[in-house]
Amino acid sequence: MLENIEKIRSDFPILKRKVYNHPLVYFDNAATSQKPKQVIKAITNYYENHNANVHRGVHKLTEEATELYEGARKKIADFVNGGDKRQIIFVRNATEAINLIAYSWGRENIKKNDEILLSEMEHHSNLIPWQHLAKETGAKLKFIPIDEKGELKIKNHELKQYVSAKTKLIAVTHVSNVLGTINPVKDIIEQAKAINPKVKVLIDGAQAVPHIPVSVQNLGCDFYAFTGHKMLGPSGIGVLWVKKDLQESMIPFQRGGDMILRVTFESATWNYIPWKFEAGTPNIEGAIGLGAAVEYLSSIGMKNVREHEKELTGYALKKLEEIEYLKIYGQNNIEKRVGVIAFNIVKNGKIAIHPHDLVSILDGEGIEVRSGRLCAEPLLSIFKAEAAARVSFHIYNTKAEIDRLIPAIGKAKKIFKVA
Ligand SMILES: Cc1ncc(COP(=O)(O)O)c(C=O)c1O
Repeated sequence: MLENIEKIRSDFPILKRKVYNHPLVYFDNAATSQKPKQVIKAITNYYENHNANVHRGVHKLTEEATELYEGARKKIADFVNGGDKRQIIFVRNATEAINLIAYSWGRENIKKNDEILLSEMEHHSNLIPWQHLAKETGAKLKFIPIDEKGELKIKNHELKQYVSAKTKLIAVTHVSNVLGTINPVKDIIEQAKAINPKVKVLIDGAQAVPHIPVSVQNLGCDFYAFTGHKMLGPSGIGVLWVKKDLQESMIPFQRGGDMILRVTFESATWNYIPWKFEAGTPNIEGAIGLGAAVEYLSSIGMKNVREHEKELTGYALKKLEEIEYLKIYGQNNIEKRVGVIAFNIVKNGKIAIHPHDLVSILDGEGIEVRSGRLCAEPLLSIFKAEAAARVSFHIYNTKAEIDRLIPAIGKAKKIFKVA
């Protein structure tokens, strides 16, 4: 456990509140994380002292706002070892980052009969844009299967079966939002590029960057997408990192103010990278807030964040496994997974308590847990589950909170007479 866990918890104002008279236990971090006061203050400070539009005009406030906005870009680039800060494009969220690639790179480069390789464990955000592009272009979607442990089948050079000269893009998640699996993406990229040096690889880092140290340059990917609100930052801000040699050739995603250099009545020229991809007034306070969030995470250290969450995950898996009829989706090797645990109460092969009913009872105990299709309906169908409950941790969670979860699940079992 983090030594200064109480100090960390005191940084998150929301953790002081009660839910139905119980102290809040927030276990829905894979959906969105809570925000420390440092992030909230950075946003308030911007509005109270520096609010102006960015990249426009020459007055003092616009200069200050631009400095804060562009300063955040640098902090975020450093946080993921992204190199030149111009490789960081601000978007609304991971979903928009992936759509940007589908539009600005995919539409220009993917043609009929080309192949796009995904995995069976993708979030809908890294599936639907490619389904659409495949329909538009006549390209084919292929999927790397998963094994019973929830790992991708790529050992022993199995990737060879899925990658060929036809493969134009591989888009896979770094960490699964259902199984918690940490995919060996560096290995996937190396294997894929050895088979087809022209293939481009997009990594969906929405569940990775908030929980494990990530160095995008070290991975060797072409595109890396992540989202601010899951990593202690505000919502409405996300990041797309793009390899340098690809940026110039990509077409703008949206068109309008700020993404142009010169404009006549008939035509326009595009702004420099990365502003070419940031049309209109951006989410200035969002970027500043995300800058403060990465500063906060860095002050704890991502290795420590990972260690803390590993310990919580190991503890939770052990306690959950002791509950009769509780089925966990994914494996229990904490080296290969993060603190995202999806489960169901399954008796005689059937879900005995609908996850919505289960988490309503947990909610009544002040424990906030996600339920539903977890934005990964095809993946859940592999496990023959229409829906699941999911607990997910972040740095402010504790073993004592897990100790409250276990009897609350027991209470649900009692109410639904699962014995
Ligand atoms: C793996 C993964 N990818 C993408 C997303 C989409 O993130 P956002 O909704 O912020 O765009 C999520 C969100 O749950 C996710 O878990």
